Amino acid sequence: MKLIIINGPNLNLLGKREPGVYGNQDFNSFYLELQEKYPAVQFEYFQSNIEGEIVDALQKYGFESDGIILNPAAYTHTSVAIGDAIAAIKTPVIEVHISNVHAREPFRHLSHVSGKSIGSIIGMGLNGYVLAIEHFLYLNK
Ligand code: DQA
Repeated sequence: MKLIIINGPNLNLLGKREPGVYGNQDFNSFYLELQEKYPAVQFEYFQSNIEGEIVDALQKYGFESDGIILNPAAYTHTSVAIGDAIAAIKTPVIEVHISNVHAREPFRHLSHVSGKSIGSIIGMGLNGYVLAIEHFLYLNK
């Protein structure tokens, strides 16, 4: 099974960025743990701070992988283009947010991604990515 994890802006700073909200672990070390935990899964990882590059990644992987785990970060709340890209592709998308966006500022309550995704995992920290992988394993068994 081929899964792609796509992270949006500022998630390259995990571990350094607002640790009270996003935790102390950097994504690269977490990604290594995921690869060790799920040796049968063929992972790809893409992070960008640029909206159009996330659209490009969705278009690229959206016809060649079994699942996309997407944390569009701040673009969740603003990007019609990312929502449209999810609607345009074949591969199912699970939306993940590390923090509980519904317990935060009102502008974080809107998602252009939730309605286009098969589901959303919100507020479970980095474990949200694990839960998304488990769901794709369940779907593909
Ligand atoms: C986030 C939540 C977003 O509101 C925020 O802009 C992020 C990260 C999360 O994972 O909790 O950058 O997507």
